Amino acid sequence: MSDVEALTALTALTDGDRRRARELAAGGSSLLARHLTAYLDNEAAGSVYDQPAAFEAFIGGGGNVGLYAAVEDALAAQYRSVTPARLADIGCGDGRVVRNAIAVSGHLPDSLTLIEPSPALLAEAVRDLTPTHAYAGTVQSFLSEVDDSFDLIESTFAMHTIPHEERTEVLARLRERTSGLVIVDFDVPAVEHGGPAHLRFLAETYERGLSEYGPDRDLVAGGFLMPVLVGQLTPGARRVTWEQPAAQWRSQLEKAGYQDVSVVPLHDYWSSPAFLLTARSGGA
Ligand SMILES: C[S@@+](CC[C@H](N)C(=O)[O-])C[C@H]1O[C@@H](n2cnc3c(N)ncnc32)[C@H](O)[C@@H]1O
Repeated sequence: MSDVEALTALTALTDGDRRRARELAAGGSSLLARHLTAYLDNEAAGSVYDQPAAFEAFIGGGGNVGLYAAVEDALAAQYRSVTPARLADIGCGDGRVVRNAIAVSGHLPDSLTLIEPSPALLAEAVRDLTPTHAYAGTVQSFLSEVDDSFDLIESTFAMHTIPHEERTEVLARLRERTSGLVIVDFDVPAVEHGGPAHLRFLAETYERGLSEYGPDRDLVAGGFLMPVLVGQLTPGARRVTWEQPAAQWRSQLEKAGYQDVSVVPLHDYWSSPAFLLTARSGGA
Protein backbone atom coordinates (compact mmCIF):
# COMPACT_ATOMS: atom_id res chain seq x y z
CA MET A 1 0.00 0.00 0.00
CA SER A 2 1.20 3.48 -0.78
CA ASP A 3 1.02 5.87 2.16
CA VAL A 4 -0.44 9.31 2.62
CA GLU A 5 3.05 10.84 2.61
CA ALA A 6 3.74 9.52 -0.90
CA LEU A 7 0.43 10.90 -2.13
CA THR A 8 0.98 14.34 -0.61
CA ALA A 9 4.53 14.34 -2.02
CA LEU A 10 3.06 13.81 -5.50
CA THR A 11 0.71 16.74 -4.87
CA ALA A 12 3.66 18.95 -3.88
CA LEU A 13 5.52 17.90 -7.05
CA THR A 14 2.51 18.86 -9.13
CA ASP A 15 2.59 22.27 -7.40
CA GLY A 16 6.24 22.57 -8.42
CA ASP A 17 7.48 22.38 -4.80
CA ARG A 18 10.22 19.77 -4.97
CA ARG A 19 11.69 20.61 -1.55
CA ARG A 20 8.33 20.02 0.14
CA ALA A 21 7.79 16.88 -1.94
CA ARG A 22 11.10 15.50 -0.72
CA GLU A 23 10.28 16.35 2.94
CA LEU A 24 6.87 14.69 2.70
CA ALA A 25 8.20 11.58 0.97
CA ALA A 26 10.95 11.25 3.59
CA GLY A 27 8.24 10.88 6.26
CA GLY A 28 6.64 7.88 4.55
CA SER A 29 7.50 4.19 4.77
CA SER A 30 6.02 2.85 1.53
CA LEU A 31 8.25 1.72 -1.32
CA LEU A 32 7.10 4.73 -3.32
CA ALA A 33 7.93 7.17 -0.52
CA ARG A 34 11.39 5.65 -0.08
CA HIS A 35 12.28 5.62 -3.78
CA LEU A 36 10.83 9.09 -4.37
CA THR A 37 12.97 10.45 -1.52
CA ALA A 38 16.11 8.81 -2.90
CA TYR A 39 15.39 10.10 -6.40
CA LEU A 40 14.67 13.68 -5.27
CA ASP A 41 17.93 13.60 -3.30
CA ASN A 42 19.95 12.57 -6.29
CA GLU A 43 18.11 13.23 -9.49
CA ALA A 44 19.58 11.74 -12.65
CA ALA A 45 20.05 13.93 -15.71
CA GLY A 46 19.28 12.98 -19.31
CA SER A 47 16.64 10.76 -20.85
CA VAL A 48 15.71 7.45 -19.26
CA TYR A 49 16.46 5.81 -22.62
CA ASP A 50 19.97 7.26 -23.12
CA GLN A 51 21.58 4.96 -20.54
CA PRO A 52 19.10 2.16 -20.70
CA ALA A 53 20.30 -0.31 -18.03
CA ALA A 54 17.37 0.63 -15.77
CA PHE A 55 14.80 0.52 -18.59
CA GLU A 56 16.07 -2.89 -19.66
CA ALA A 57 15.97 -4.23 -16.09
CA PHE A 58 12.44 -2.85 -15.87
CA ILE A 59 11.13 -4.54 -19.03
CA GLY A 60 13.00 -7.75 -18.24
CA GLY A 61 11.36 -8.24 -14.83
CA GLY A 62 8.11 -8.11 -12.84
CA GLY A 63 4.85 -7.99 -14.75
CA ASN A 64 6.70 -7.01 -17.92
CA VAL A 65 7.67 -10.63 -18.52
CA GLY A 66 4.05 -11.66 -19.12
CA LEU A 67 3.21 -8.37 -20.80
CA TYR A 68 6.01 -8.64 -23.36
CA ALA A 69 5.14 -12.27 -24.13
CA ALA A 70 1.56 -11.18 -24.85
CA VAL A 71 2.76 -8.28 -27.03
CA GLU A 72 5.09 -10.51 -29.04
CA ASP A 73 2.37 -13.12 -29.58
CA ALA A 74 -0.07 -10.44 -30.72
CA LEU A 75 2.44 -8.96 -33.18
CA ALA A 76 3.28 -12.44 -34.46
CA ALA A 77 -0.43 -12.98 -35.16
CA GLN A 78 -0.44 -9.68 -37.11
CA TYR A 79 2.56 -10.76 -39.21
CA ARG A 80 0.88 -14.09 -40.00
CA SER A 81 -2.31 -12.37 -41.05
CA VAL A 82 -0.84 -9.35 -42.93
CA THR A 83 2.44 -11.01 -44.13
CA PRO A 84 4.13 -7.60 -44.45
CA ALA A 85 7.01 -7.53 -46.92
CA ARG A 86 8.07 -4.09 -45.62
CA LEU A 87 7.88 -3.79 -41.84
CA ALA A 88 8.87 -0.84 -39.61
CA ASP A 89 9.08 -0.57 -35.83
CA ILE A 90 8.92 2.92 -34.32
CA GLY A 91 10.72 3.35 -31.01
CA CYS A 92 11.91 -0.25 -31.16
CA GLY A 93 13.93 0.06 -27.94
CA ASP A 94 16.43 -2.79 -27.69
CA GLY A 95 14.57 -4.66 -30.45
CA ARG A 96 13.43 -7.56 -28.30
CA VAL A 97 9.76 -7.17 -29.27
CA VAL A 98 10.22 -7.23 -33.03
CA ARG A 99 12.93 -9.89 -32.82
CA ASN A 100 10.79 -12.25 -30.72
CA ALA A 101 7.63 -11.53 -32.70
CA ILE A 102 9.38 -12.42 -35.98
CA ALA A 103 10.74 -15.60 -34.41
CA VAL A 104 7.31 -16.60 -33.05
CA SER A 105 5.50 -15.83 -36.32
CA GLY A 106 7.89 -17.58 -38.67
CA HIS A 107 7.30 -14.67 -41.09
CA LEU A 108 10.47 -12.93 -42.23
CA PRO A 109 9.76 -9.55 -43.88
CA ASP A 110 11.82 -8.66 -46.98
CA SER A 111 12.75 -5.36 -45.36
CA LEU A 112 12.83 -4.29 -41.73
CA THR A 113 13.25 -0.66 -40.62
CA LEU A 114 14.00 0.22 -37.01
CA ILE A 115 13.48 3.79 -35.83
CA GLU A 116 14.96 4.58 -32.43
CA PRO A 117 16.38 7.84 -31.02
CA SER A 118 18.42 6.24 -28.22
CA PRO A 119 21.79 5.27 -29.73
CA ALA A 120 22.41 2.79 -26.91
CA LEU A 121 19.09 0.97 -27.45
CA LEU A 122 19.44 1.00 -31.24
CA ALA A 123 22.94 -0.49 -30.94
CA GLU A 124 21.47 -3.39 -28.99
CA ALA A 125 18.64 -3.84 -31.46
CA VAL A 126 20.97 -4.09 -34.46
CA ARG A 127 23.28 -6.45 -32.62
CA ASP A 128 20.60 -9.13 -32.51
CA LEU A 129 18.64 -8.31 -35.66
CA THR A 130 19.78 -7.46 -39.17
CA PRO A 131 17.52 -4.58 -40.16
CA THR A 132 17.55 -3.23 -43.69
CA HIS A 133 17.58 0.25 -42.26
CA ALA A 134 18.37 1.34 -38.70
CA TYR A 135 17.39 4.97 -38.28
CA ALA A 136 19.01 6.66 -35.27
CA GLY A 137 16.50 9.40 -34.52
CA THR A 138 12.92 10.24 -33.73
CA VAL A 139 9.99 9.26 -35.92
CA GLN A 140 9.45 12.98 -36.57
CA SER A 141 12.90 13.36 -38.13
CA PHE A 142 12.55 10.03 -39.96
CA LEU A 143 9.41 11.36 -41.64
CA SER A 144 11.27 14.51 -42.73
CA GLU A 145 14.44 12.79 -43.93
CA VAL A 146 13.38 9.40 -45.33
CA ASP A 147 10.79 8.65 -48.02
CA ASP A 148 10.28 4.92 -47.42
CA SER A 149 6.83 3.31 -47.27
CA PHE A 150 5.69 0.16 -45.51
CA ASP A 151 3.06 -2.58 -45.49
CA LEU A 152 2.93 -2.50 -41.71
CA ILE A 153 4.21 -0.07 -39.10
CA GLU A 154 4.18 -1.15 -35.45
CA SER A 155 4.94 0.74 -32.28
CA THR A 156 4.85 -0.69 -28.78
CA PHE A 157 4.76 1.68 -25.78
CA ALA A 158 6.59 4.31 -27.84
CA MET A 159 3.96 6.59 -29.39
CA HIS A 160 3.06 7.79 -25.88
CA THR A 161 6.47 9.49 -25.72
CA ILE A 162 5.16 12.14 -28.16
CA PRO A 163 2.95 14.98 -26.82
CA HIS A 164 -0.75 14.64 -27.70
CA GLU A 165 -1.12 17.24 -30.47
CA GLU A 166 2.19 16.53 -32.10
CA ARG A 167 1.25 12.83 -32.07
CA THR A 168 -1.86 13.50 -34.16
CA GLU A 169 0.36 15.16 -36.78
CA VAL A 170 2.88 12.31 -36.69
CA LEU A 171 0.10 9.74 -37.06
CA ALA A 172 -1.36 11.63 -40.02
CA ARG A 173 2.05 11.72 -41.74
CA LEU A 174 2.59 8.02 -41.06
CA ARG A 175 -0.76 7.24 -42.68
CA GLU A 176 0.69 8.21 -46.06
CA ARG A 177 3.60 5.80 -45.58
CA THR A 178 1.86 2.58 -44.63
CA SER A 179 -1.05 0.29 -45.38
CA GLY A 180 -1.51 -0.76 -41.77
CA LEU A 181 -0.59 0.39 -38.29
CA VAL A 182 -0.39 -1.52 -35.01
CA ILE A 183 0.00 0.27 -31.68
CA VAL A 184 0.31 -1.35 -28.28
CA ASP A 185 -0.09 0.92 -25.27
CA PHE A 186 -1.79 1.29 -21.90
CA ASP A 187 -5.45 2.06 -21.35
CA VAL A 188 -5.00 4.59 -18.55
CA PRO A 189 -8.02 5.95 -16.64
CA ALA A 190 -9.81 9.01 -17.97
CA VAL A 191 -8.92 11.41 -15.15
CA GLU A 192 -7.64 14.97 -15.15
CA HIS A 193 -3.84 15.01 -15.47
CA GLY A 194 -2.32 15.94 -12.11
CA GLY A 195 -5.73 16.08 -10.42
CA PRO A 196 -6.48 14.24 -7.12
CA ALA A 197 -7.82 11.07 -8.82
CA HIS A 198 -4.76 10.89 -11.09
CA LEU A 199 -2.36 11.31 -8.17
CA ARG A 200 -4.16 8.61 -6.14
CA PHE A 201 -4.00 6.32 -9.16
CA LEU A 202 -0.26 6.97 -9.65
CA ALA A 203 0.53 6.47 -5.95
CA GLU A 204 -1.32 3.14 -5.84
CA THR A 205 -0.06 1.75 -9.13
CA TYR A 206 3.59 2.78 -8.74
CA GLU A 207 3.63 1.17 -5.30
CA ARG A 208 2.39 -2.05 -6.92
CA GLY A 209 4.91 -1.76 -9.76
CA LEU A 210 7.84 -1.21 -7.39
CA SER A 211 6.81 -4.24 -5.31
CA GLU A 212 7.28 -6.49 -8.38
CA TYR A 213 11.07 -6.01 -8.37
CA GLY A 214 13.60 -7.58 -5.99
CA PRO A 215 17.36 -7.04 -6.24
CA ASP A 216 16.93 -4.75 -9.28
CA ARG A 217 14.44 -2.44 -7.56
CA ASP A 218 16.89 0.41 -6.80
CA LEU A 219 18.09 0.45 -10.40
CA VAL A 220 14.57 0.23 -11.89
CA ALA A 221 13.20 2.89 -9.53
CA GLY A 222 16.05 5.41 -9.70
CA GLY A 223 16.81 5.00 -13.40
CA PHE A 224 13.34 4.57 -14.86
CA LEU A 225 10.18 4.60 -12.74
CA MET A 226 10.92 7.67 -10.61
CA PRO A 227 12.11 9.87 -13.50
CA VAL A 228 9.02 8.87 -15.51
CA LEU A 229 6.75 9.63 -12.54
CA VAL A 230 8.41 12.89 -11.48
CA GLY A 231 8.81 14.04 -15.10
CA GLN A 232 5.12 13.75 -15.82
CA LEU A 233 4.07 15.72 -12.73
CA THR A 234 6.67 18.43 -12.14
CA PRO A 235 6.05 21.63 -14.11
CA GLY A 236 8.94 22.19 -16.51
CA ALA A 237 10.57 18.79 -15.89
CA ARG A 238 11.69 16.47 -18.68
CA ARG A 239 8.54 14.54 -19.54
CA VAL A 240 8.69 11.20 -21.38
CA THR A 241 5.11 10.05 -21.20
CA TRP A 242 1.85 11.43 -22.57
CA GLU A 243 -0.49 8.49 -22.02
CA GLN A 244 -4.23 8.53 -22.67
CA PRO A 245 -7.22 6.16 -22.38
CA ALA A 246 -7.73 3.64 -25.21
CA ALA A 247 -10.88 5.48 -26.35
CA GLN A 248 -8.76 8.60 -26.95
CA TRP A 249 -6.20 6.60 -28.92
CA ARG A 250 -9.04 5.40 -31.11
CA SER A 251 -10.38 8.91 -31.72
CA GLN A 252 -6.87 10.25 -32.30
CA LEU A 253 -6.29 7.63 -35.02
CA GLU A 254 -9.65 8.47 -36.60
CA LYS A 255 -8.83 12.18 -36.47
CA ALA A 256 -5.53 11.39 -38.21
CA GLY A 257 -7.53 9.77 -41.03
CA TYR A 258 -7.22 6.03 -40.29
CA GLN A 259 -9.99 3.56 -41.07
CA ASP A 260 -11.19 0.36 -39.41
CA VAL A 261 -9.62 1.31 -36.09
CA SER A 262 -9.95 -1.64 -33.74
CA VAL A 263 -8.91 -1.67 -30.08
CA VAL A 264 -8.85 -4.93 -28.10
CA PRO A 265 -7.62 -5.62 -24.56
CA LEU A 266 -4.27 -7.40 -24.58
CA HIS A 267 -2.93 -8.00 -21.08
CA ASP A 268 -3.51 -6.93 -17.50
CA TYR A 269 -0.65 -4.96 -16.05
CA TRP A 270 0.10 -3.09 -12.81
CA SER A 271 -0.05 0.39 -14.26
CA SER A 272 -3.10 -0.14 -16.50
CA PRO A 273 -4.28 -2.86 -18.90
CA ALA A 274 -2.47 -2.96 -22.23
CA PHE A 275 -4.44 -2.81 -25.48
CA LEU A 276 -3.73 -3.72 -29.09
CA LEU A 277 -4.86 -1.16 -31.66
CA THR A 278 -4.92 -1.97 -35.36
CA ALA A 279 -5.86 0.45 -38.14
CA ARG A 280 -5.92 0.60 -41.89
CA SER A 281 -4.59 3.65 -43.60
CA GLY A 282 -4.86 3.13 -47.31
CA GLY A 283 -1.43 4.80 -47.73
CA ALA A 284 1.73 3.33 -49.29
C1 LIG B 1 8.82 2.54 -23.33
S1 LIG B 1 10.06 2.43 -24.57
C2 LIG B 1 9.44 1.11 -25.59
C3 LIG B 1 10.52 0.40 -26.36
C4 LIG B 1 10.05 -0.81 -27.16
N1 LIG B 1 9.14 -0.46 -28.22
C5 LIG B 1 9.45 -1.84 -26.24
O1 LIG B 1 8.25 -2.13 -26.36
O2 LIG B 1 10.20 -2.35 -25.39
C6 LIG B 1 9.80 3.87 -25.55
C7 LIG B 1 10.78 3.97 -26.72
O3 LIG B 1 10.40 5.07 -27.56
C8 LIG B 1 11.58 5.73 -27.97
N2 LIG B 1 11.21 7.10 -28.37
C9 LIG B 1 11.14 8.20 -27.59
N3 LIG B 1 10.76 9.26 -28.32
C10 LIG B 1 10.60 8.83 -29.61
C11 LIG B 1 10.26 9.47 -30.83
N4 LIG B 1 9.95 10.77 -30.89
N5 LIG B 1 10.24 8.72 -31.98
C12 LIG B 1 10.51 7.39 -31.92
N6 LIG B 1 10.84 6.73 -30.77
C13 LIG B 1 10.89 7.44 -29.63
C14 LIG B 1 12.49 5.64 -26.75
O4 LIG B 1 13.85 5.90 -27.05
C15 LIG B 1 12.21 4.22 -26.30
O5 LIG B 1 13.04 3.28 -26.92
